[in-house]
Amino acid sequence: MTEPHITYIDETDIKNKRVLLRVDFNVSLNPDFSIADDARIRQSLPTLLYLLTRHNKLILLSHLGRPKQRDKQYSLKKVADKLQEYLPKNKVTLVDDFLEKNNAGIFAGQSDSEVIMLENTRFYPGEKKNDPGFAKQLSRLADVYVNDAFAVAHREEASVVGVTKYLPSYGGLLLKREVEMISKAIRNPKKPLVAIIGGAKISTKIGLLDKLSKMAEYVLVGGGLANTFLKAKGYDIGSSYCEDGQVETAKYLIQKTNIVLPQDVVVGNKDRGTNGEEVTKLTAVPPGKEILDIGPETQALFGSYIAKAKTIIWNGPVGYIENPAFRRGTDFIFYSLTANSAAVSIVGGGDTLAAISKKEYLEKITHISTGGGAMLEFIEKGTLPGIEALRPLPPA
Ligand code: 3PG
Repeated sequence: MTEPHITYIDETDIKNKRVLLRVDFNVSLNPDFSIADDARIRQSLPTLLYLLTRHNKLILLSHLGRPKQRDKQYSLKKVADKLQEYLPKNKVTLVDDFLEKNNAGIFAGQSDSEVIMLENTRFYPGEKKNDPGFAKQLSRLADVYVNDAFAVAHREEASVVGVTKYLPSYGGLLLKREVEMISKAIRNPKKPLVAIIGGAKISTKIGLLDKLSKMAEYVLVGGGLANTFLKAKGYDIGSSYCEDGQVETAKYLIQKTNIVLPQDVVVGNKDRGTNGEEVTKLTAVPPGKEILDIGPETQALFGSYIAKAKTIIWNGPVGYIENPAFRRGTDFIFYSLTANSAAVSIVGGGDTLAAISKKEYLEKITHISTGGGAMLEFIEKGTLPGIEALRPLPPA
């Protein structure tokens, strides 16, 4: 039996309804908790506007950060204020607690030009637990549910999965674009497919690396996770970041001949300003120094694979980008990727986006995913719990 089809909002007719819209407004924050980058808000606007022009009353749901309880630093107030700037013709109202009886009037009196945003879903213990009671309370606010939050669709939480049991459920325009673009790149990729995987931890990317090593012609590995591979190969990596518990896994993965590791590296001290960095061979990492970026020989090697690729998937910086001294490798990957305009390129991951978001040539990337973990899990498994939950139940 074929699975029932997910319906996206542009394939149906949602008009004059109360719509519970799950967005991912988990924007990156500065150390003082102000918004550092509002790309996720901007990327949701097409769905909001699509639904608003059809006279729907929107009730937005989002999480922000990982608070365990109510915590004003993770309040969505700043997000609601930012959204208000993008929607000058609509009134954006943040509801502190939708379960509070005194707030019932806000929902009853909502006009179709007013956008209501509920406070951070993770302020409620039922959210993470995917508690059916909490999901039901959310569902009572609306007639239909729309999920446009690809970036959190890998989480089985009440506002992502649970609520779909109680309301007719649809996918938003951003979710549709993410699913279509990433599926196209992984289901029937133009070959050669080259994946570049960076970031710190191998433990969160084992499944992905395994899958990519089967799908891609070359998997270029950089960033902190490459150190664990280098240790597995027997190199002395000085005081570099390494997941010692994952060295055996790395040994298993490097038997795959298409995994390409750095050949030279930039070493230094990650907290010491921009001074002291030096390029070295893998055999000469000085004790007491850390590997913090790929070296120029590795750039040339990675660049040669990227230039020949017809499909490119990139997730994770290849160096310690928090310090500009160790950002060159990641910048190089970005510019090599944008220089290969013949290739389909998919880029994602919070840190990767932070590294490139203010650069020129962004339009040369085929698709910039809002997902970090969600993008990785989607590539690995081909779907996500929040997407599956949108399939209507087959008739009994
Ligand atoms: C993300 O930033 O990747 C998503 O918003 C999911 O957030 P989470 O990892 O805290 O669930």
